[in-house]
Amino acid sequence: MCGIVAYVGPKDAAPILLEGLQRLEYRGYDSAGVVVSNRGLKVRKVKGRVADLAKVVPVRFKGGLGIGHTRWATHGVPSDTNAHPHLSADERIAVVHNGIIENASDLRAKLEADGVVFASETDTEVLAHLIARGADENDTLEEAVRKALKSVVGTYGIAVIDAERPGEVVVARNGSPIVLGIGEKEMFAASDVAALVRYTRQVVHLEDGELAVLKADGFHTFASDARETAKEPLTVDWDAGHYDTGGYEHYLLKEISEQPETITRTMSGRLDERFHVAHLGGLNMDARETRSFRRVKIIGCGSAYYSGQIGAQLIEELARIPADAEPASEFRYRNPVVDPDTLYVAISQSGETYDTLAAVQELKRKGGRVIGIVNAVGSAIAREVDGGIYLHAGPEVSVASTKAFTSTSLAFALLALHLGRVRDLSPADGRRVVEGLRRLPGQIEEILTQGDKIAELAQKYAKHPSMMFVGRVRGYPVAREGAQKLKEISYVHAEAYPASELKHGPLALIGPDMPTVAIVPDDELLDKNLTTLGEIRARGGQVLMVGHREPDAKLADDVIVIPKNEIELDPILLTIPLQLLAYHAAVALGRDVDKPRNLAKSVTVE
Ligand code: AGP
Repeated sequence: MCGIVAYVGPKDAAPILLEGLQRLEYRGYDSAGVVVSNRGLKVRKVKGRVADLAKVVPVRFKGGLGIGHTRWATHGVPSDTNAHPHLSADERIAVVHNGIIENASDLRAKLEADGVVFASETDTEVLAHLIARGADENDTLEEAVRKALKSVVGTYGIAVIDAERPGEVVVARNGSPIVLGIGEKEMFAASDVAALVRYTRQVVHLEDGELAVLKADGFHTFASDARETAKEPLTVDWDAGHYDTGGYEHYLLKEISEQPETITRTMSGRLDERFHVAHLGGLNMDARETRSFRRVKIIGCGSAYYSGQIGAQLIEELARIPADAEPASEFRYRNPVVDPDTLYVAISQSGETYDTLAAVQELKRKGGRVIGIVNAVGSAIAREVDGGIYLHAGPEVSVASTKAFTSTSLAFALLALHLGRVRDLSPADGRRVVEGLRRLPGQIEEILTQGDKIAELAQKYAKHPSMMFVGRVRGYPVAREGAQKLKEISYVHAEAYPASELKHGPLALIGPDMPTVAIVPDDELLDKNLTTLGEIRARGGQVLMVGHREPDAKLADDVIVIPKNEIELDPILLTIPLQLLAYHAAVALGRDVDKPRNLAKSVTVE
């Protein structure tokens, strides 16, 4: 989604804004702009990349107050005119905005009826004109912003400056994240911590409805009714190093390659070899309450949802209570029956996905007990749930989720172990799982050494316009995630099916031009899976098998053999080759690997 950066302090704002916008580029955007205040508002904005914007920001752009924006078009085509910031008619007020103003057309019509002439097609420009009205009536900027927002329906994260008040920035949040960065006699704000960590790790997240006034010497936060709110700063445990590629060609390859470390961090301090249990203090529930749940319902979007399917399988296998996963974007709209005996689990790497946040809010409204599995500390979903498990995987910069996917799956293994060992999972089985978890980082390292082989296979298979991914039971969510990775970064069409479903229709697609990636672990379904390979091959379909041993040669054209773990944990390892396959296919096809077309890292709009 859109990126926002704001600065007020003794330094020149322009270079800080540009650097911050570069840190937000991974979120996906189509235009960028900055405005600084120095005897009037100085604006530069372009359709294109932040690098294009930097070329047109003159060195003379001095001044210690400014705001910047990267735009992911929702209302109005990508263009210089529609890029943010947007100014009031008298060029006194400048606004940058992330979100959607649903009643923008009504507000625009009223303003135009009053003689306001709009310069852009955007919903955001409405805000600039509305705020200017309050400013003209000698309101403080905070009051003018609050008044304007009272007439707005929709979501926003905004930053506003006033040419006549050169010492302050006002920011506000409703549905789109805004985080404040606390510096030494300087203040920052942004839509994502990534833009701040180079300058400060002391941050404050705004809640929905909150507004803040930033000045060089500090900040004040206010609820929507103008009451001042007290906010405790958080210390971010990420640093700027997380936001560079570390010598890798792409963030995506870096994040795939750091999974041995990130898996280790997610497990760190949470495994108990004495009782063969997982320590998950963040759940905020004692053993009695943990035992009381009779079912688990998992919600998330995209890859988070697929990792939730892995989680549901783990919980049913280890805790023997019913569990299932559902897209949060469906769950929130179907008026779900909320059950007091059900534990709800919301998954989100960013912690800001609007559909997932709205589903959590719907659950909370109906009295549901919700925990979160989240990567971004202090994010909206992390603050909304009743407790949870932080991934500690470090920021995931590439749009495609990889390390968060495997860390989420691992977090579910810890949760399943926890739920199981307060029920009937034996110490011996608990020990088996704990030892299996300990083996994962080394086994991931082993899989990563096959990168060159997988790159060659990617060259071979990426030539096809479509690919099928199949797997049974534990293998099916892995197949779904593999198809997701391939299509979202290489743009090769891919779909995933339960292998048993192939013969009920999709087999009609199989032929020389539709290869199949088959997930074939050494589990109780091995023979069934090998039969499926035979059915595919008999129809001229090529097979790339991912499993634990070479099959009979006539059953697969190519095989990626990976190390065997406990059958419940194998899906975590089976995913890694598919991540690499998608990555190398995207590179082979010359795609924008870290910022695929049409996608954003965190979908904070509906
Ligand atoms: C994953 O590769 C995609 N970028 C996307 O499906 C993502 O998983 C989804 O948007 C959910 O994001 P979240 O985990 O930040 O909530």
